[in-house]
Amino acid sequence: MLSVQGVSAGYGRLEILHKVALDVAPGEIVGIIGPNGAGKSTLLKTIFGYLPPFEGTVTFENQTLQGRSPDQVMRRGIGYVAQAGGIFADMSVHENLVLGGYSLKSARAVNAAIEKIYAQFPRFRDRSRQRAGSLSGGEQRALAVARTLVISPRLIILDEPSAALSPRLIEEIYGTLADLNRSGIALLIVEQNVRRILDSAHRVVVLDMGRNAFAGSSDELRRSDRIRRLYLGEDAG
Ligand SMILES: Nc1ncnc2c1ncn2[C@@H]1O[C@H](COP(=O)(O)OP(=O)(O)OP(=O)(O)O)[C@@H](O)[C@H]1O
Ligand SMILES: [Mg+2]
Repeated sequence: MLSVQGVSAGYGRLEILHKVALDVAPGEIVGIIGPNGAGKSTLLKTIFGYLPPFEGTVTFENQTLQGRSPDQVMRRGIGYVAQAGGIFADMSVHENLVLGGYSLKSARAVNAAIEKIYAQFPRFRDRSRQRAGSLSGGEQRALAVARTLVISPRLIILDEPSAALSPRLIEEIYGTLADLNRSGIALLIVEQNVRRILDSAHRVVVLDMGRNAFAGSSDELRRSDRIRRLYLGEDAG
């Protein structure tokens, strides 16, 4: 459903991604791992339209995405949860959800979508008037994910959903993501927590210095000596 081919991109004239390729099939969970500075966030920003690629193509459900704005990408059915935040701390939970639907035409459609989200995440109904910044870290992360659901995305891309969360909250957010995936939403997840993503993803892509380094099923990566040595801190002896 999502296909990234030969994409080079960066900031100004500085090229960070060099001919990167990546695919996500409908209903699939794909992980992206790689060292700090590898270009993982840059790749997500390029897919979502924050950065125009220097070359290459990004297509979603056979429609061209490159050259489109984040707003247009979102309207085509992709949600995005950025690396930090993704919520408006000074606004209420409800206002955050309303803003998630700013690209929907009618207020009625937004309200219907939010009603569905409250059914799925009852705790946000109870806290709808609470200032989003006063939610716990795990709740804020869940709200950032819930916000993307207002537009009924078929794919959500997430940049380090587990960052700075306790092990319990990491399991909670990944439980939420598993539920969304079971409901048919494909996920593309950048993750530092390699063990965690290997447990959730069907396939994992490794980026290194802006290039595709390695890709395979989670099982294949777990068996790879190189991955175990570099990313799982195991002696692959
Ligand atoms: N706005 C920017 N302007 C210029 N260079 C940038 C900008 N954002 C990121 N970079 C550079 O692009 C490279 C890749 O950054 P990116 O944020 O994509 O890495 P990452 O793989 O997401 O790293 P991390 O795991 O630390 O989040 C880095 O060298 C970074 O300094
Ligand atoms: Mg990053």
